[in-house]
Amino acid sequence: MKFFVDTADTNDIAELAESGLLDGVTTNPSLIAKSGKRFVDVVAEICKLTHGPVSAEVVAMDHATMMKEAEVLRKIADNVAIKVPLTLDGLKTCKALSDDGTLVNVTLCFSANQALLAAKAGAAFISPFVGRWDDIGSDGMNLIADIRTIYDNYAFGTEILVASVRHPIHVLEAAKIGADVMTAPPAVIKMLLNHPLTDKGLAGFAADWEKTGQSIL
Ligand code: G3P
Repeated sequence: MKFFVDTADTNDIAELAESGLLDGVTTNPSLIAKSGKRFVDVVAEICKLTHGPVSAEVVAMDHATMMKEAEVLRKIADNVAIKVPLTLDGLKTCKALSDDGTLVNVTLCFSANQALLAAKAGAAFISPFVGRWDDIGSDGMNLIADIRTIYDNYAFGTEILVASVRHPIHVLEAAKIGADVMTAPPAVIKMLLNHPLTDKGLAGFAADWEKTGQSIL
């Protein structure tokens, strides 16, 4: 499973890129606002930190303006993926850009039928939001399983990019279902490292090593 980080914080992105854990980056207008930086500048900075796709989202609601915004965004770097909303105008934009060889990430997906439409429009990625489904008392992971079944039934090449990931169980469940990619905030990716037995084992090895009085260097 590929790991994307869902942030516009360039320090966090640089740290994860150094660890080899990073396959790409996703941003959205809320994350750009949080960064406090100019959209085009922050996307350019992020694109230099990873070779993987960097999703930059259009903000227009109509197809013609989405296309104009996408033109600006895709000129930033070769690894920009254009993120469009799951609306009819968004899908028209997805089709036009995908036909032109641009990676498109269709976002704000909350149903398997919506994911089917995105695949038919040629999306490189579909972003189903699991956490926001959980927020309203449903199990968002059912959506991932349904999309996996549908995409496999018809051999769609669209990658399932699990979004709105809030905790390690989301990552585990998405991996068990066979999602292609997950995107999570940096803190959630770091949480995947944690295990009390790792900490306990490491403390034991350190204490025993101390007793030897030796040094490797
Ligand atoms: O980038 C889209 C998605 O990952 C947002 O997550 O936590 O705001 O629902 P969240």
